[in-house]
Amino acid sequence: MTQDEMKQAVARAAVEYVKGGIIGVGTGSTANYFIDELAKVKGRIDGAVASSEATAKRLKSHGIDVLDLNSVGGMEIYVDGADEITRNFHMIKGGGGALTREKIVAACAKHFICVADQTKLVDVLGKFPLPVEVIPMARSYVARELVKLGGQPKLREGFTTDNGNVILDVHGLSILDPVVLESEINQLTGVVTNGLFARRPADVLLLGTEHGVETYK
Ligand code: A5P
Repeated sequence: MTQDEMKQAVARAAVEYVKGGIIGVGTGSTANYFIDELAKVKGRIDGAVASSEATAKRLKSHGIDVLDLNSVGGMEIYVDGADEITRNFHMIKGGGGALTREKIVAACAKHFICVADQTKLVDVLGKFPLPVEVIPMARSYVARELVKLGGQPKLREGFTTDNGNVILDVHGLSILDPVVLESEINQLTGVVTNGLFARRPADVLLLGTEHGVETYK
C-alpha cells in the first residue's frame, strides 16, 4: 500500500465516526481525503467548521456548509492529520501552517480523531521541525528565545498564515515533555501558538499501515 492509499484508508475509517451534527475538519492531505469521504455522507451532517481557508474551500466545493465557529456551540468530533504522533497521542502539527486554527477547532470538539499513516508514528517528538506561529514584529525576539530553549528556528520563507502571521520552524528539538514545552513556548511574548498538541492530545488514532487501519484509543 502506498502512503496515499494509507491516508485514503484512514479517511474512510474516520467517516465511521460521523454520526451527525457539526464536524470539525482539519487541514492537509489526509484531511483532504477525509473531506472527499465526508462529501459522500454529507446528508448526515448539519455542516462543518474548517480549520483553514483551504479546507473551507474544499468543503464548499463539495457542497458542504461551512459554519462560523462562533455560531456553533461545539462539536462531537474533530478529524485531522498530524506530522508526528506518539503512542500517548501527543502530536506535532502545523506542517501546513494551519496550527492555530486547528488548535482552536480541536479545543471545541469533544473527540479529536487523528488520521495518519504509519510514517507519522514516533517514539519521541521533534524530528519534524516544530512550527511556531508568531506575530511578525516579534519574529527575531521569539527566534532568540527559542534558541535558548535548545532549538534552531528557521523562518518559513514566503509563507503567511491565514491569520496574517509568520511561522518559525524549530529544528533540533528532542521533545521529552511535550506538555511542558507546549506551555513554555506559548508563554513567549509574540507567539500565537505552537504546533505541539499535548495539553489537548488526540482521543483516537486511526493509523494507516500496510496491513490495514489500526485503531488506538
Ligand atoms: C496542517 O497545518 C497540519 O497540521 C497537518 O494536519 C499535518 O501537517 C498533516 O498533514 P498531512 O495529512 O498532509 O500529512
